[in-house]
Amino acid sequence: MPDSFSFDRAADFYDSTRDLPEPVATRGIQAILDVVGPGARILDVGTGTGRISVPLLKRGADLVGCDLSAKMMARLQVKFPAARLAQADASRLPFPVNYFDAVTTCHVMHLVGPWREALHEYRRVLKTGGVYVNARTEQEGESVHEQVRFFWKLRVDALGFVSQRPGVRDDKDMQEELRGMGAELKQVEVVRFTRSHSVREEIDRLGSRKFSHTWDIPQDVFAQGLRDLRAWAGREYADLDAPHAVTEAFILDIARFRKN
Ligand SMILES: C[S@@+](CC[C@H](N)C(=O)[O-])C[C@H]1O[C@@H](n2cnc3c(N)ncnc32)[C@H](O)[C@@H]1O
Repeated sequence: MPDSFSFDRAADFYDSTRDLPEPVATRGIQAILDVVGPGARILDVGTGTGRISVPLLKRGADLVGCDLSAKMMARLQVKFPAARLAQADASRLPFPVNYFDAVTTCHVMHLVGPWREALHEYRRVLKTGGVYVNARTEQEGESVHEQVRFFWKLRVDALGFVSQRPGVRDDKDMQEELRGMGAELKQVEVVRFTRSHSVREEIDRLGSRKFSHTWDIPQDVFAQGLRDLRAWAGREYADLDAPHAVTEAFILDIARFRKN
């Protein structure tokens, strides 16, 4: 089984690459609080620099964060000095059984090698009736982001490097596992919003190597892939700087365990 991806190397730049769009910062965060219920004791796994957990803490949530990366959490601690944090692997949580009312994750499970073990850990630390909430953002339709990523993956594969995500590859696999564990599943689309990106911005983001799917690609493959990507984009798009709108949805996948 591949290892998980610690984000130690990303701590210095992570916040400059991910924002929290205003509709998510307001309605998205409130929706998480509504699902977990008032006064819930929450564990945020893969809490990182606190993109989700700090807004929750600022609204008074009783939250503990954990992450493989101490460096990511050091950033969080600067933003919210009173935060309670633990360096821990999702698949070996240092918490007792029956302890939390809710476990949350956001953009984490694709990075967790032993992701099935992690789900069983979430159930173990949850109280009876507790809830696991996986928050995620999904793009709608065929965006330039998808087009650029699709060509990039084809090129890198053709250059002989098959990229492996260590964790969940398809949300359906995770839902199937949770269902098999006896969870009641529900999906809530909280809010939709539109953003604009140019093709050049998409390529530059990829070329920055700040996103985890680029980290393990050998340098020669990466450089050739990027040259090919730029050449393809030049042929494919009349104006690389034209903005392309994309609609995104903030979604909560909710799994409730009525009994343990
Ligand atoms: C993409 S970041 C997401 C951080 C935050 N949840 C957010 O939405 O911005 C993923 C985080 O998961 C952490 N991570 C990866 N594998 C993990 C594991 N097995 N156990 C705990 N944390 C893990 C990484 O170190 C990183 O901080």
